Order: sequence, then structure tokens, then C-alpha cells
Amino acid sequence: MPQKESVRAMFNEISGKYDFLNHFLSFGIDRLWRKRLVKELLKSKPEHVLDLATGTADLAIELHRQSGIRITGVDISEKMLAAGQEKITKSGLADSIELMRGDAENLQFPDQTFDAAMIAFGVRNFEDLPLGISEMKRVLKKGGKVMILEFSHPASFPIKQIYGFYSRFFIPVVGKMISSHPTAYRYLPDTVAAFPSGKAFLNIMLQAGFDQCRMISLSGGIASIYTGTRPD
Ligand SMILES: C[S@@+](CC[C@H](N)C(=O)[O-])C[C@H]1O[C@@H](n2cnc3c(N)ncnc32)[C@H](O)[C@@H]1O
Repeated sequence: MPQKESVRAMFNEISGKYDFLNHFLSFGIDRLWRKRLVKELLKSKPEHVLDLATGTADLAIELHRQSGIRITGVDISEKMLAAGQEKITKSGLADSIELMRGDAENLQFPDQTFDAAMIAFGVRNFEDLPLGISEMKRVLKKGGKVMILEFSHPASFPIKQIYGFYSRFFIPVVGKMISSHPTAYRYLPDTVAAFPSGKAFLNIMLQAGFDQCRMISLSGGIASIYTGTRPD
């Protein structure tokens, strides 16, 4: 099965347990990380924001809660989107948050559509990372901001050791028990370890043509927010 199709199938299978496991395995810290991204994003006062790999729409809902602005969410997994749509409808946000199925590496929007683009825990799944980052730039208006939240590699003692043990042993075992998926929660530490973080990630953003690239380290480097601006 091609990588994209297997990623889609995996998220379809875990969609029912995804939110619970996210908050449970991170002790709720994932919510604080999303709030931090939103706080940073709102500094540029966007009016229409693209949420890529929106999944169950937690980031889109948080952004709307803090700002009331219009958001378009895109994801390849129809079951993650269905779970997100249910939350949006229940919260009465259907007029402001629109979800659609699509591939972040091949977006269906014209150039320069959005004031800002954001993605939480999504870039790690891309088949072609530089292509996905270039697509974000293409659909951003000039001067538009991109915000990327992703797991990174904590470097200092003891967070590196504690988190290393937690992510390699605890997350796969408990994730498998609760989700009943044999490999999805093994995929998380494996892909994080193989994924560029810190300066290596900033370089990919620079090569895609973003300006003012910088990084905000979260929880001792367990996750990071990478930000950049599409030049004028
Ligand atoms: C770990 S979840 C993150 C969901 C959400 N952003 C959050 O913060 O909880 C990753 C999501 O990326 C989606 N995804 C993976 N590859 C994608 C692609 N090429 N285009 C769009 N969505 C993709 C998956 O379907 C999944 O919903």
C-alpha cells in the first residue's frame, strides 16, 4: 500500500479513540501546545486560516474559540473529518469552520487564498515534506504566516531520558491496548525519531522560500512550533 494510503487507513481506524488517547497520553499537555500556537498565530490578525491535517479539528476549534474567525480544515482521513465535523456541529460552529477532504501535498485551492496556515502533528505524515511545505506557501497570501506544531527531539537531561522511555515503551503499549490498533502508536515514536527537528526543520522551511523562520520550543523540546512568513 502506498504510504499516503496506509496513513489514511491508519487514521481512519483510530479515529474513534484519537481524541481520548491524545489527551490521555499527553496528560492534556497537547491542549496547551495548541493554545500556544493559536496565541502566536493571532498576532498577525488573520481573517481566513487554513488548518492542514485538521484531523478531529481540535486546533481549528481552539482557534475559533479564541478569535471567532473563519477556518478551512483539510485532511485525507474521512473518519477523522467525520469525528471533527460532529464536534463542530455540536458546538454550533458549522458556519465558521468548514472541513473538507484533501491532500496537503496537493491542495485544491488557488494561489494566495489564505491569510495564515497552520498544522499540528501533521507534517510528520507527509510523503514529500518539502512539497507539503511549498504547498502551504503557495496558498498563503504575501506576508501570510505559517505555524507548524510538531514533536521534536528533547536534548537535555532528564527530559530526553524520561520522554525517550515514555514514548518508546509506554505510548506503544497503552496506545495499542486502548485503540486496538496493532501499530499506530508504535508509528508515533518511530516517525518522530526519523523526522527533522530544530534547525534541520527550519532549513527546510527556508529552502521552501519562507522568511523570518523561527522556532518556539515547548515542554523542554518535546514539541516545537515552527513559524515563518511568506515574503512579499
Ligand atoms: C496526528 S493527526 C493530527 C490531527 C490534528 N491536527 C491534531 O492536532 O490533533 C495527523 C492527521 O494528518 C492527516 N494527514 C496525514 N497525511 C495527510 C496529508 N497528506 N494531507 C492531509 N492530511 C493528512 C491524518 O489523516 C491525520 O488526521
